[in-house]
Amino acid sequence: MAGNRNKGNPGLMGWIDDRFPATAMWEDHLSKYYAPKNFNFWYFFGSLALLVLVNQILTGIWLTMSFNPSAEGAFASVEYIMRDVEFGWLLRYMHSTGASAFFIVVYMHMFRGMMYGSYKAPRELIWIFGMAIYLALMAEAFMGYLLPWGQMSYWGAQVIISLFTAIPGIGADLAQWIRGDYLISGVTLNRFFALHVIALPIVLLALVVLHILALHEVGSNNPDGNDIKKHKDENGIPLDGIPFHPYYTVKDIVGVAVFLFVFCAIIFYAPAMGGYFIEAPNFEPANALKTPAHIAPVWYFTPFYAMLRAITFPMFGLDAKFWGVVVMGGAIAILFVLPWLDKSPVRSMRYKGWISKVFLLLFAVSFVILGVLGAIPSTPGRTLLAQACTAIYFLYFILMPWYTKFESTKPVPERVTG
Ligand code: HEM
Repeated sequence: MAGNRNKGNPGLMGWIDDRFPATAMWEDHLSKYYAPKNFNFWYFFGSLALLVLVNQILTGIWLTMSFNPSAEGAFASVEYIMRDVEFGWLLRYMHSTGASAFFIVVYMHMFRGMMYGSYKAPRELIWIFGMAIYLALMAEAFMGYLLPWGQMSYWGAQVIISLFTAIPGIGADLAQWIRGDYLISGVTLNRFFALHVIALPIVLLALVVLHILALHEVGSNNPDGNDIKKHKDENGIPLDGIPFHPYYTVKDIVGVAVFLFVFCAIIFYAPAMGGYFIEAPNFEPANALKTPAHIAPVWYFTPFYAMLRAITFPMFGLDAKFWGVVVMGGAIAILFVLPWLDKSPVRSMRYKGWISKVFLLLFAVSFVILGVLGAIPSTPGRTLLAQACTAIYFLYFILMPWYTKFESTKPVPERVTG
């Protein structure tokens, strides 16, 4: 791997390579990283996730320069950023829109992995690191949302933190420990600020590095789900592989251009996105004495929120709220073990049987329906629908070991197809 490439050569690069594996790293991860030549639309989202991560960090640093992390000053400092700081409005909207863009991109990226079986051996660790990123991202977004100290910041955090009280025995103390106070206060805001601007970004960055190192150790999967390393030329280069740089760096620029078009259109014309990216009550300062009529988390959490609300009945002597939290946590936890639930001999949906295809479709549709249900007030009919969708969500995973083993699959081509 790193070896002694370009060591002992004259010139600046030789001097650097004698002391640091710069050329070796460039080659291993870019110019001599051979990626399957059949990457399609779905493969844009990894590089887009990196782009959005950089956007969040850079705009976040500049926002921090003018933000006041106190209960007295936070809301006013956001108004100050919007009105008085040069291009402050742009920084703020790039950051708030970036949060939603992050989840859109990551959900597409995860769905690609589920379609093409990219979580299956030998890529289990890429998936596990990805899931850890997803968890860290949810914590990051949740804590960031409290910072502008608007009505939904306050009451959203109130609802979510109070979920911890559902844990028998330690629940109430745990919620108080998280808040650092008897109710959400400036103390909570202060600690969320510390975690949001420094602790979690470090964790996220470290996990992304591990994610990509794990990917480059085993090599990328592809829409056919076959192994390009099985067919190599006399120099050991995969016949169906192309160097990541320049081929995919250039291709990814196309994805970036299209993404930026949509991203800028939202920032300039619909930054609150009709209340989906920034909810209407968040334009009012937090008020502990005035509960908003309808409290809902931001869209990217609503599928899980709908699952929480779908559990309306106590079981085994424990109340509905406890089971709602268990179901919500279970919905995320079960994704971690996905690599071990899929027993199919093939990776890609292209060659799996019809049961897998129908289940993946049902799973995706249920997730979207839950997302919609979680954003609107519940009625008895909607609760029934949320219960059905929650059941489908879990059945997709729980029945997977059975239907992936039982169904007949199509033969996977030796070489990649189009
Ligand atoms: C900050 C968030 C993330 C970033 C920056 C990121 C970045 C990347 C990049 C650059 C790639 C290679 C290019 C590509 O295959 O698209 C990749 C591959 C992959 N990622 Fe992520 N990722 C993130 C989150 C996730 C999450 C949440 C999951 C799933 C839980 C995940 C699962 C995967 C898998 C399975 C692959 C291999 C895909 C294949 O080879 O077909 N990633 N990621």
